[in-house]
Amino acid sequence: MSMDSDPPFHKAYKSFFDKTIINKAVPSPTSSGSTSNYPLLVEECDLPLIDLSLLDLGDEAEIDNCKSQIARASQEWGFFQVVNHGISSELLEKMRSEQKKVFSQPFDMKSQENKYLNFSAGSYRWGTPTATCLRQVAWSEAFHIPLSNISGSDGLNTLSSTMEQFAAKVSNLAQKLAEILAEKLGQKSTFFQENCLSSTCFLRMNRYPPCPIPSEVFGLMPHTDSDFLTILHQDQVGGLQLVKDDTWIAVKPNPEALIINIGDLFQAWSNDVYKSVEHRVVTNMEVERFSTAYFFCPSYETVIESCCEPSVYRKFSFGEYRQQVQDDVKNFGFKVGLPKFLL
Ligand code: OGA
Ligand code: NI
Repeated sequence: MSMDSDPPFHKAYKSFFDKTIINKAVPSPTSSGSTSNYPLLVEECDLPLIDLSLLDLGDEAEIDNCKSQIARASQEWGFFQVVNHGISSELLEKMRSEQKKVFSQPFDMKSQENKYLNFSAGSYRWGTPTATCLRQVAWSEAFHIPLSNISGSDGLNTLSSTMEQFAAKVSNLAQKLAEILAEKLGQKSTFFQENCLSSTCFLRMNRYPPCPIPSEVFGLMPHTDSDFLTILHQDQVGGLQLVKDDTWIAVKPNPEALIINIGDLFQAWSNDVYKSVEHRVVTNMEVERFSTAYFFCPSYETVIESCCEPSVYRKFSFGEYRQQVQDDVKNFGFKVGLPKFLL
């Protein structure tokens, strides 16, 4: 990666660097609670690992067992990994190499609207425009791409055709998982087939450049996802952390697995049965990290209503939810999320 492909973090956040007293004290391992200032010290763990081949090859008991594992992990962790997920390693590798190519372009090229990449306006993002200190800066860059845009983009471009193939496969997986999660709530639902179309979902390609002070700066700030569920393909560098039982834990990368996490919409739809769990990305000084996230979303008009009574949240449209999140970020500097919709 050439130097001029990195976003100008140092220049943009120079005043924060100047103000920050870099903490060189060696923290004790016991300080790694959810309030820890030392995200690099959190313990690594294995997420629940679920073999999806059982859904196709298993007998009835095995199929049901697999579905129960998916539902249980979504309740207890809000996060799990799947293997034998039906997306070939060739396609995953192709997606990754195309992603690397895009990010390796000069920063000026990436940040210039669409000139070369053919993405919609504002799809390239880096850092945190609203940050007031280093702790609020996301040391990462991303292309956030509405899937409705991909097929419309230059079909001869290998990146867009790879993204299209990737999205098609991943969206099948998302539909399958959503249906299982609905079924386990006692809902035989066509809701997801009807409302979460590939044209309403998003792909996000992330790059986390090496960071000179990883103990002070996140790759991605703690957040929950504002979708039904997210499918993440990460490389082997590591850095993803999530909250489990009020403690931050680090996810150990598994080259065969995709990571699934429940988003806010599924938590609301399931009436708090499935958990949309806070997660973040930590940086490191040595190597860049790549990940690709697929956000399984409905159209903006879709109304999210809990599947059972008494409901914890009032019903809201996805558009309303997005707007609320944006307003909160603007007014408070952070996303409030579901608590705004409590009844
Ligand atoms: C996200 C996200 C995690 C990662 O894009 O919402 O949580 O590992 N990404 O990049
Ligand atoms: Ni996320």
